[in-house]
Amino acid sequence: MKKIERSGLFMKENLHLFQCPVCKQNFTDVVGTSVVCVENHQFDLSKKGTLHLLLKGGQNEYDKKMLSSRKKLAETGFFQPMLDVVKKQLEGRNITALLDVGCGEGSHLHYLQNQGVSGTKIGFDISKDAIQLAASHYFDDAFWCVADLAHSPFAGEQFDAILNILSPSHYEEFGRLLKKGGVVVKVVPDADYLIELRQKLFMLEEEKQSYENEPVIKRFEQAYPNYLHEHVRYEVSLTAEVYRWLLEMTPLTWGADEGKRLELLAEPLPSITVAMSVLVGIK
Ligand SMILES: C[S@@+](CC[C@H](N)C(=O)[O-])C[C@H]1O[C@@H](n2cnc3c(N)ncnc32)[C@H](O)[C@@H]1O
Ligand SMILES: [Zn+2]
Repeated sequence: MKKIERSGLFMKENLHLFQCPVCKQNFTDVVGTSVVCVENHQFDLSKKGTLHLLLKGGQNEYDKKMLSSRKKLAETGFFQPMLDVVKKQLEGRNITALLDVGCGEGSHLHYLQNQGVSGTKIGFDISKDAIQLAASHYFDDAFWCVADLAHSPFAGEQFDAILNILSPSHYEEFGRLLKKGGVVVKVVPDADYLIELRQKLFMLEEEKQSYENEPVIKRFEQAYPNYLHEHVRYEVSLTAEVYRWLLEMTPLTWGADEGKRLELLAEPLPSITVAMSVLVGIK
């Protein structure tokens, strides 16, 4: 069966997880390869089996090269110790539906699916390129859609778990989407995430050498006062190739001019620190 047909079947079985991003009412039917709502707004599945639920163009700075470098870096296991903590936080919960907010190119859901995390998985991102990449490589691991967290096309109180890994949050929306007792797992960088690279990049701007995550954690605490906080910290050895993927995938280097970029590439780092906070809140 073609991907578009398989996605049509998925939508038929899972219409209850979605809502129309235009009128915010239920989707009622899948007609051919289009999803239709109460007010007859219509959204077409793509050949790759993805669903585009954005109301206006949502491309951002994450271009194809950056996304594919992020995917290659993820395939080396770069994020795995962090994902193992995420997995541990999901274990033992009865998860029938899980939503990955700002899923990027999909490697995290792919890993968690392979690790046996249960439930129907949906990954969404505002970047069409990211979702195309996810659907090309990890089609069987989740249902992939292009959508904006600010106009989220998902139904209320249907999700047991929300993943929010290095991506933007919207706590009011998370509250609407989660079932009572559902869990949000948010991952944010700690102060010395990629510190060796920051030091090279911001040699003369000491204040930029560490990442200030306190305001983000404070906002999480306001939303989930009894939250759980776990730090993950590890060193990753880098080959010159993996170092290049790291440079290409991180938003850190976006502001760097060509000269700085070449300078960074010429002196590969032998290893890098990954330090993150995993925040867990229950509705
Ligand atoms: C640093 S990337 C992280 C991606 C992925 N979670 C990961 O850890 O590899 C942040 C992601 O958030 C997405 N994003 C930003 N604003 C968004 C929004 N309003 N709705 C959905 N996704 C958004 C970006 O397109 C990008 O893919
Ligand atoms: Zn509608």
